[in-house]
Amino acid sequence: MVSATSRHWAIIPAAGAGSRVGSITPKQYLPINDTTVIEASLYCFLKHPEIAGVVVALHEGDQHWATLSVAKNEKIHTVVGGKSRADSVNNAVEYLINTPADDTDFVLVHDAARPCLRYSDLELLISTLKTDEVGGVLASPVSDTLKLVKSKEQTVNTVSETLDRDKIWRAFTPQMFRLKLLKQALTHSKDKSIVITDEASAIEAINLQVKLVQGHSDNIKITHQEDLELAEVILKNQWR
Ligand code: CTP
Ligand code: MG
Repeated sequence: MVSATSRHWAIIPAAGAGSRVGSITPKQYLPINDTTVIEASLYCFLKHPEIAGVVVALHEGDQHWATLSVAKNEKIHTVVGGKSRADSVNNAVEYLINTPADDTDFVLVHDAARPCLRYSDLELLISTLKTDEVGGVLASPVSDTLKLVKSKEQTVNTVSETLDRDKIWRAFTPQMFRLKLLKQALTHSKDKSIVITDEASAIEAINLQVKLVQGHSDNIKITHQEDLELAEVILKNQWR
C-alpha cells in the first residue's frame, strides 16, 4: 500500500513552437484577456496548497519567459525542454528525480497551452487519486458521433464506419502519475521508439492501469487560432 501523504509536483511542458496557431510568438505566450496563456495555465497549480513545486520546461532559445512576472515565483523551477513534448516532460522528470522528490510522489503534467483548467477539477483529480498506486488523468466522455475514415485526406474524407462512442473518452491534462512509474514509462517508450502524445500512453505501454477522472470539457488545448478565441470566452465566464 502506498502512502496517502505523498507530495504533488507539477510539470508544465512549454517548449513548443505552436506552429499550428501560426503566430511568430509561441502560443503559450500569447495574450489571453488580461494575462498570457501560460500564466493562465499555471494559475491553479500556483494557488493549490498541495502542489509542492512546479517545473516549467522552456525552449532553449526562449525569449519570453523571463519577461513575465510569474517567472519570479518561488514555487517555480525551469528546465530546458527537448525536441518533442515527451522529451520536454522527460527533462522535467529528471529534474524532479535529482531533487528531494520521492519515488512515490505524484507528478501532474499539464500543457502550457491549456489555460482553462478549473480549480475544482484539479482538486477532484488530486483527491480521487490520492491513494492510487499508479495515477490517472482528467478526461471526459465524447458526446459527438464518431466516424472512422477510410484514409486521411486534406478536406473531404469518406466514412468507413461509425464507432460505438459509449466507451470513448477524451484525455485532457493534468495527467497525474507516481514519479518513479512515470520515469519508467517514459524511458520504455523512448527505448522502444514508441511515439506518445500523452503520459498515459506511456503508462499503458508498460501495462499499468490508467484511471480516468471526469473533468469539464471546457479544459481545451489551444491548438489552432480559433481555440484562443474560445478560451478567452471560457475564461471570462470562469470564477478564478
Ligand atoms: N511542448 C513542449 N516541447 C515540445 C513540444 C511541445 O514542451 N518539444 C509543449 C507545448 O509547449 C504545449 C504542449 O507541449 O504546451 C502541447 O503540445 P502542442 O499543443 O503540440 O504544442 P506545440 O508543439 O507548441 O504546437 P504545434 O504542434 O502546433 O507546433
Ligand atoms: Mg506539437
